[in-house]
Amino acid sequence: MRQPSLRPFVLAAILVAIATTAQAQGLIDPKRGEEIARAWCANCHLVSADQGGTVAADAPAFTALTLEAGYSDERLRGFLSVPHGPMEGLTPDNRQIGDLIAYIRSLQE
Ligand code: HEC
Repeated sequence: MRQPSLRPFVLAAILVAIATTAQAQGLIDPKRGEEIARAWCANCHLVSADQGGTVAADAPAFTALTLEAGYSDERLRGFLSVPHGPMEGLTPDNRQIGDLIAYIRSLQE
């Protein structure tokens, strides 16, 4: 008896994998930035209005990182490309930095 071919399933799995990857590499997303901020930055920074707990006194609140205060996208990107404070090992990649900046900007709209 002939085994049913697995080929259509393998092909479908590959297509799903490609679609998922494309989505993951997709556009800048402030929502994703917020998740990163809550997970990585909220230990030290006030990253949202509803945040509880304590933060580091010398870490600026994300609402203070405005263009008016001199925090251009380039400055934020440059700053976040290297770890700061004791956040070793938490260096966000390029896309995550984009998401974080989009989130920070969304706080100021
Ligand atoms: C362990 C504590 C800690 C964590 C975690 C942390 N920060 Fe900071 N951050 C600080 C402190 C303290 C300062 C102020 C002193 C300095 O500039 O290093 C600061 C300053 C900054 C500044 C201002 C830089 C400037 O040019 O003045 C930005 C932007 C910033 N942090 C973003 C982030 C983001 C985004 C994350 C999460 C990915 C994060 N920080 C995580 C402690 C932290």
